[in-house]
Formats: sequence, structure tokens, C-alpha cells
Amino acid sequence: MHNLTPSAIELVDFYDDGEQARHFQFRLLDGAVSASADPALTEPTLTKQDTGWQKVQIGQFFMLNVPGVGEAPFTFTQMPDEQGHFRALVRQMGAVTTALFGLQPGQILGARGPYGIGWPMNEISGKRILVVGGGCGLAPLVGVVDHLVEQQNYTQLTVVYGARSQQAKMLNPERERWQQFIPVFNMIENGDLNGDENEYHGRPIDIMPTVLDSFGELPDVVLLAGPQVMMFGMADYLVASGVYDHAIYLSIERRMHCGLGTCGHCYLKHQYICTDGPTFRWDVLQPYLPEDH
Ligand SMILES: Cc1cc2nc3c(=O)[nH]c(=O)nc-3n(C[C@H](O)[C@H](O)[C@H](O)COP(=O)(O)OP(=O)(O)OC[C@H]3O[C@@H](n4cnc5c(N)ncnc54)[C@H](O)[C@@H]3O)c2cc1C
Ligand code: FES
Repeated sequence: MHNLTPSAIELVDFYDDGEQARHFQFRLLDGAVSASADPALTEPTLTKQDTGWQKVQIGQFFMLNVPGVGEAPFTFTQMPDEQGHFRALVRQMGAVTTALFGLQPGQILGARGPYGIGWPMNEISGKRILVVGGGCGLAPLVGVVDHLVEQQNYTQLTVVYGARSQQAKMLNPERERWQQFIPVFNMIENGDLNGDENEYHGRPIDIMPTVLDSFGELPDVVLLAGPQVMMFGMADYLVASGVYDHAIYLSIERRMHCGLGTCGHCYLKHQYICTDGPTFRWDVLQPYLPEDH
């Protein structure tokens, strides 16, 4: 029997991070919040419950529950620490995220998880790694880059980030921190550059010849997250450039309801994005996609 009871979390703080996006810090409380969907419920009911929050894998996701409004899946940008603090970058889209943006620090909401399959951290450790994120899609990759940089557990690590404009750029503090240690290429599709030597006009794919050259040989592993059209185009380009399809991993998003492989909302031909993913190897994912992906 699946447990759909969310754990109680406190909204600790937040800051604006790009257009209509905020980086939130939450704290797990010692208990679980009632799964009641009663719209009159403004404060969740706390009950004691054991959770698996201390074992979150980088790349997994959680279902955020705004009481009386609903649930939506989000990636961890920082895994829960010993005090239960964790972070997520959220773009305002619809009912759940708009309600979240209306909350203030100190308010209690719910979260259940962690769910899904994270990035293959053991397989990528020590390798020559290329990380490509587009827009809000850099969020699932933050934990990977932070971990690798902290552990210095790579032979080469390069990040390419794409944003529509200056205003749309997200996760600026993270990228500024990383570029003290590793190459970071920031690609701006429209409008002015900010004068930063790491910033270029165009889309991530436009800088790929330079990036691949910088690896000398091709990267051993590539991690992609962001808009689907960007990821699939990038994967096709990299394979055409000689990168093995089994060396490319992507994080896929679909509308989700249960997060547990039971409701079928995230079904993609015989695969549930919530339990078989959200991270997939490109050669594994491809047979499940339409031919004209
Ligand atoms: C595994 C996973 C991890 C995610 N991580 C993050 C994250 O870290 N940060 C973040 O901001 N968002 C993330 N998302 C996306 C987020 O869950 C959705 O934007 C969510 O639906 C917002 O809920 P809402 O009620 O505010 O908007 P909704 O009312 O659900 O949606 C508003 C609009 O967005 C569209 N939409 C919603 N979800 C999707 C989707 N998955 N694919 C395409 N269109 C969609 C709807 O059709 C509608 O037009 C993730 C999604 C998945 C599946
Ligand atoms: S969200 Fe229900 S099966 Fe994946």
C-alpha cells in the first residue's frame, strides 16, 4: 500500500530568482501532514511518521502539497541536510505555484517523497562530464554540480546554461560559485549580454563546437535538463558528434499526480516518468518517443 501522507514542512525563506521564479528553502518538521484535500484546511494536521527524507538521491523529486490547493512535483536543488533544510527553485505556473508564491516564511505546508530515480552519481564520478541546463531546467542539475565541485570528483566538468534573456536567467549565485572552479558557459538567446566573459549570445547548441573542443576527446558523460526541444536537439547533436547515446542522461518532465507509478498521468509508452525516471539514459528513452521527437 502506497503512503500518500505528506510530511509537514515549514517555508523557511525565499528569494526571487529570475522571471516569475523563486528559490525556496523549506525545513522538514518532525511528523507528517494530513493528506486531507479539504479546501477549508489551512493548517495541516501533524502526526508522527517515519520518512525517507534523509536518503534523497540527487535528481529525485518530491510532491509539494499546498493545503487546500493541491500538489505538484519539484526537484531538490539542495538535498535535506541533518536539520531537514532543503531547497527548490520554483517557476510560477498555475494553481499550486501561485498559492506557494502567496505564502510567507513560517507557514506550514506538506511534501511527500523522495520519488524517482536520480542521476547515476557513481557512474559519473571521476569522469569528463558535460552538464547542460536550459532555463528552470538547470534546477535538477544543481545538486550534481555542487556535489562534484565539493568532492572535486571529476576529471573535467563543464556547465553550459541557456536562458531566453538576462531577466530570465536563474540560479545566478550557483553559477557564479561554480565558475570559480570550472568552466561555465552562459548562453543568452535574446537581448544584451552583461559584459561577463562567461556570457555569449545564442543557444547552448551554438557553443557546442567550442565546448567539445575544450574536452579534447569527447566527454565521457553528458547530463541534460531543460525544455524538451533543447534536450532532444542537444542529444541528437552530441550523438552525431560521436558521443555514445548510452553516455547521455536526461531529466524528463510530465504532468504528475501520484508520483508512485499508479495513476498513469505520466505514462510514456510502457514507462512511468515518476518511477522509471525522471532521469533516463538517452538510448533507453528513445524507443519510447515519437519518431519525430
Ligand atoms: C519530476 C519533475 C520535476 C519538476 N521540477 C520542477 C522544479 O524544480 N521547478 C519548477 O518550477 N517546476 C518543476 N516541475 C514542473 C512543475 O511540477 C509544474 O510546473 C507544475 O505543474 C506546476 O504546478 P501548478 O499547479 O502551479 O501549475 P499547473 O496548473 O499544473 O500548470 C500550469 C501550466 O503548466 C503546464 N504544465 C504543468 N506541468 C507541466 C509539465 N510537466 N510539462 C508540460 N507542461 C506542464 C500546464 O499544462 C499549464 O499550462 C517539475 C515537474 C516534474 C514532472
Ligand atoms: S504520476 Fe502517477 S503514475 Fe506517474
